[in-house]
Amino acid sequence: MSSGFQPAPNPSIAETRAARTPGRAHVLVIGNEKGGSGKSTTAMHVAVSLMSDGARVATLDLDARQGTLSRYVENRAAHAVRKGIDLPMPLHAAVMLSTLNDRRQADADERARLEAALEPVVGTADFVIVDTPGSDTHLSRLAHTWADTLLTPLNDSFIDLDLLARVDPDTLRIVRPSIYAEAVWKQRQLRAVGGGRPVDWVVMRNRLSSLAARNKRDMGTVIEALARRIGFRVTTGLSERVIYKELFLSGLTLLDLKRGGTGPSLTVSHVAARQEVRDLVAALNLPPAVASEPEAAPATEISRPVLPPAG
Ligand SMILES: Nc1ncnc2c1ncn2[C@@H]1O[C@H](COP(=O)(O)OP(=O)(O)O)[C@@H](O)[C@H]1O
Ligand SMILES: [Mg+2]
Repeated sequence: MSSGFQPAPNPSIAETRAARTPGRAHVLVIGNEKGGSGKSTTAMHVAVSLMSDGARVATLDLDARQGTLSRYVENRAAHAVRKGIDLPMPLHAAVMLSTLNDRRQADADERARLEAALEPVVGTADFVIVDTPGSDTHLSRLAHTWADTLLTPLNDSFIDLDLLARVDPDTLRIVRPSIYAEAVWKQRQLRAVGGGRPVDWVVMRNRLSSLAARNKRDMGTVIEALARRIGFRVTTGLSERVIYKELFLSGLTLLDLKRGGTGPSLTVSHVAARQEVRDLVAALNLPPAVASEPEAAPATEISRPVLPPAG
């Protein structure tokens, strides 16, 4: 079965440390066609981590029907009002799928909606964080072409890995890359055609068990092999912790928890979890926020990636 998929070299961290295009936000797309892999949870934690370092952050929810990230942000705003506290807030927008029946018109409509949501913030924020749905939609594909960094959370399960690669059950060898890996490869090519900087693709392992189980070890072996084969970097990411589920209703993240503060009290395990989030953000090698750069250049014309033709 020939898919045209070619292995890409695995870029080293030094090669991929992102440089900021002056006056343009760094776009971080959180993507994985598998639902429930932790995209929205990760999007919110990375957003708050960057804001707590003083960056201007915009968030974009492209899974607007589920609207998890939008609800998370709403819950956060409501919590700040209820408790009378100041919480850093991202500039948030959601992009709905087109309701037009004609496919070509719908694609054009979605492209226009996405650009309308991105353009105001791409010129003013330091980072735009785009949360995508756990399915292959036209809107999600378009968003992937905007990614300077693509972060793919992956649950520690071979069911989730199946979207990246087919694996031989006896030898654990990679038989071939599968649908999401191919989709990313196509978006990478489209971006390259437009002269865009290559995307830095980072796969993070999510919901890692604290136990040294065989599954965890086998997953690690296969992911490392796959990283070399299809060209992504791997970070360990986040452990399985109830706190990630509990914080949603208050719109808080681990970065907001303080000793003696409002909301859930900070435990030793939360301190470790917060470090985990900070380590993840550090591993992304994002460029410094403009505010902290010595010579911030004025905003220039927005450089737009070449997008696939509508239809
Ligand atoms: N590290 C984690 N530990 C425990 N639960 C998690 C973790 N990451 C995500 N979850 C939970 O997994 C479910 C799916 O997460 P979510 O961020 O909505 O994924 P996605 O956006 O990919 O569908 C949610 O119930 C969320 O609270
Ligand atoms: Mg989600």
